[in-house]
Amino acid sequence: MIDVLLGLQWGDEGKGKIVDYLAGQYEVIARFQGGPNAGHTLYIGGDKVVLHTIPSGIFHTHCLNLIGNGVVIDPVTLQKEIEKILPLCPDLTQRLFLSQKAHLILPTHRALDAASEAAKGADKIGSTLKGIGPAYMDKTGRNGLRVGDILSPNFREKYDKLTRKHLQMLKQYDTVAIDWQQWEPAFFEAVEMMRTLTIVNAEYWLDDLLKKGKKILAEGAQGSMLDVDFGTYPFVTSSNTIAAGVCSGLGVAPSWIGDVYGITKAYCTRVGGGPFPTELNDETGEAIRAAGHEFGATTGRPRRCGWIDLVALKYAIMLSGVTKLIMTKTDVMDSFAPMKAATEYLVNGVATKELPYDLCDVAVTPVYTEFEGWSNAPLSNCKTFDELPATFKDYCSFIEEYLGTRISHISNGTGRDQLIVI
Ligand code: GDP
Ligand code: IMO
Ligand code: MG
Repeated sequence: MIDVLLGLQWGDEGKGKIVDYLAGQYEVIARFQGGPNAGHTLYIGGDKVVLHTIPSGIFHTHCLNLIGNGVVIDPVTLQKEIEKILPLCPDLTQRLFLSQKAHLILPTHRALDAASEAAKGADKIGSTLKGIGPAYMDKTGRNGLRVGDILSPNFREKYDKLTRKHLQMLKQYDTVAIDWQQWEPAFFEAVEMMRTLTIVNAEYWLDDLLKKGKKILAEGAQGSMLDVDFGTYPFVTSSNTIAAGVCSGLGVAPSWIGDVYGITKAYCTRVGGGPFPTELNDETGEAIRAAGHEFGATTGRPRRCGWIDLVALKYAIMLSGVTKLIMTKTDVMDSFAPMKAATEYLVNGVATKELPYDLCDVAVTPVYTEFEGWSNAPLSNCKTFDELPATFKDYCSFIEEYLGTRISHISNGTGRDQLIVI
């Protein structure tokens, strides 16, 4: 079977930490979408590691790690990442596999991303500027270069052809010139390195492992509310972040899918532009940012913070068929009283529990349910379910009932073992 783990909010829910924990139970971890816009944080021993492209199972010596066809790979980021973690993970290249159908991010994709964002002015998406949007546009526009192409004797020709196309496109933006040529030497050096990695016909590779009964975990990037179809469009990323993305992003049939783990923080964050109904533009929001160290793992930007949004969470759970809910960063809320959770939206004065189509254009006022909080009993020291304070358990029970989904794990710290299994 292939189980799935994905973020239910706007990303950064703690996927890296949880995959690293769950990897003990799986033989393969596979990324199925996104690219170096992702930043998944793990603590290995005392070392903090941020992974952008490599799956978060890489530190388990029994685990094979696949970068699937649905991912877009920036060779330079991949090379840097490998070089950085190699000392912690000497057998890395023996356990890292690349799908030959994953698309490549070229230097000119990054230039196009920067130019397109600059041209949008105040309406900019707040992209990580890693070239994600332009690379996926070339994929669906049927122009893209894939990992398999780097093995072709014509690779340079194909590269030059696509780059010429991008230069034409760049002409339409009258923004400051972007010196993308400076990125080319590192790109070709990284492509050279990629040729030494194990490139596989990943859908057959996975099928074989599935038929042998191996346990596989698909690791999502970003979050459900950044899904290109169902997120807060156009303030989204360019891939399907929901469970459906697993089938197209890895080439596995839906019948192989088992459990779907959905991760939510005990509150909510978003980085970049776009609607965020429960955002707190006040001292409480700032206090959450400080307590949760809410700064982007990829860009370092401050994350916007607010209360947990059960309307959006219920939508995300519906879209992916989440079977197990994981709540992270519960310890961050240790000193917040009262706590709030949005259970309804008022759109033009009308109450609804559905996510409005035009969330980007209408004023949405969340309706909140209040909770006492657990400021008298910090969670960070709890090791078992029984030790958790009753006020926190009440908060969880309310959420489980509202969402119709059971919480399977509670995370109360950054470490691999700071996790309570229910
Ligand atoms: P991802 O993109 O979903 O993997 O999440 P990020 O790594 O971008 O952001 C999550 C941040 O929260 C990281 O800095 C983690 O180390 C941290 N984190 C994860 N779980 C917990 C938790 O339960 N408590 C606290 N305090 N921090 C956590
Ligand atoms: P992980 O996997 C949080 C956001 C960006 C921007 C929008 C589009 O670490 O949870 P893009 O670079 O895709 O063009 O950006 O999506 N975004 C993320 N926000 N976590 C991420 O990944 C994100 N990846 C992209 O901030 O608003
Ligand atoms: Mg992240």
